[in-house]
Amino acid sequence: MTILGIETSCDETAAAVVRDGREVLSNVVYTQIPLHQPYGGVVPEIASRAHVEKISQVVGDALSGAGTKIDAVAVTYGPGLSPALIVGLNAAKGLAKSLGVPLVAINHIEAHLHTPFLYDSGETPSAAAPEDCCPALGLAVSGGNTVWIDMPEYGKYEVIGETLDDAAGEAFDKAAKLLGLGYPGGLKIDRISAAFRERFPNEPLIPFPKGRPRDGVTALAGLPAELCVSFSGLKTALLRHVQHNPSLVESKEGAQDFGGYDVTPEVAHVVASYQEAIVQAIADRTRAALRRGSYRAFVLGGGVSLNSRVRAVLTKVCSAAHVPLLMAKPKFTGDNGAMVAGLAFYRRNVSGDAAFRADASPSLQVGLA
Ligand code: KG4
Repeated sequence: MTILGIETSCDETAAAVVRDGREVLSNVVYTQIPLHQPYGGVVPEIASRAHVEKISQVVGDALSGAGTKIDAVAVTYGPGLSPALIVGLNAAKGLAKSLGVPLVAINHIEAHLHTPFLYDSGETPSAAAPEDCCPALGLAVSGGNTVWIDMPEYGKYEVIGETLDDAAGEAFDKAAKLLGLGYPGGLKIDRISAAFRERFPNEPLIPFPKGRPRDGVTALAGLPAELCVSFSGLKTALLRHVQHNPSLVESKEGAQDFGGYDVTPEVAHVVASYQEAIVQAIADRTRAALRRGSYRAFVLGGGVSLNSRVRAVLTKVCSAAHVPLLMAKPKFTGDNGAMVAGLAFYRRNVSGDAAFRADASPSLQVGLA
């Protein structure tokens, strides 16, 4: 079965065609990052307008790239930015109706956890079939989400831990903004940190807080404290550090190349220390989550899963727990249509008439239905 997937939940207009849930025949992503850069973050109205302008071309390119007829259309209906989701959802409904094929509405976070199972046409898949990897533990870690998910069987999801405030990607992006590194910050922080650690391997890092939620706060979320993170204390600690050391952001004197970016060694030190706090928070909660079940795989997805230190540390965590780590190819870590089309092959809980009636659902929960 060949499915077209459409994704417009945030700042990527994306479409892809996937055969039998895993083989990617075409994958087109138009990123709006340059449009949002001047504002230091995603502006929903700008995102929506850009999706409207690009959606036909992106979908057309995905269809002609695949060069085959499609059996169904899948689309992200949440969570995400409402004005952005609506564009993809309406395009998908119109296309499915005009082609006379079924429509499947997909949860964006669940779709991120499908990315390790995708492979390009002509390649040999590196991961086993999704149904053979369950029970699995999933971690979707991106600009909008940081959530640990129990998957007893493929297509069934239960949230067991999450961030109580910012997502990890948001914490990266806000720090980058504060330090004058621009938007988005994740990749820059990753590269600067790697260069710093290579050049100063013995330099002790600044002990920023490791994302532990305050006592009692997790009870509000109804989740165990050991599986939740909170990055608000970490962000405040960074702000205080900058306030006590204003020269960090006021002067670029002594700047050097760290991973392709001109920053002072002092800023690179702060950046590497901040990243490490996030990475250790993620690693610590993952360790705790892995101890709770007997998992056949740990499935990692989302934009932050591209982070080289996240990958390296989680590789060690999984190897110590004797649980295979499944990660997406770098090009599938960010938002894309292939993950939407792929998951729709396995999970069609919002299909038939219900899909055509589905509204954009900005706060859609994982594991519904
Ligand atoms: O998955 P994604 O494209 O969009 C959402 O669904 O949110 O993730 C985007 C996020 C941004 O916050 C970006 O800064 C972060 O992923 N990101 C990274 C890296 N590459 C992208 N964070 C850390 N290290 C990276 N290498």
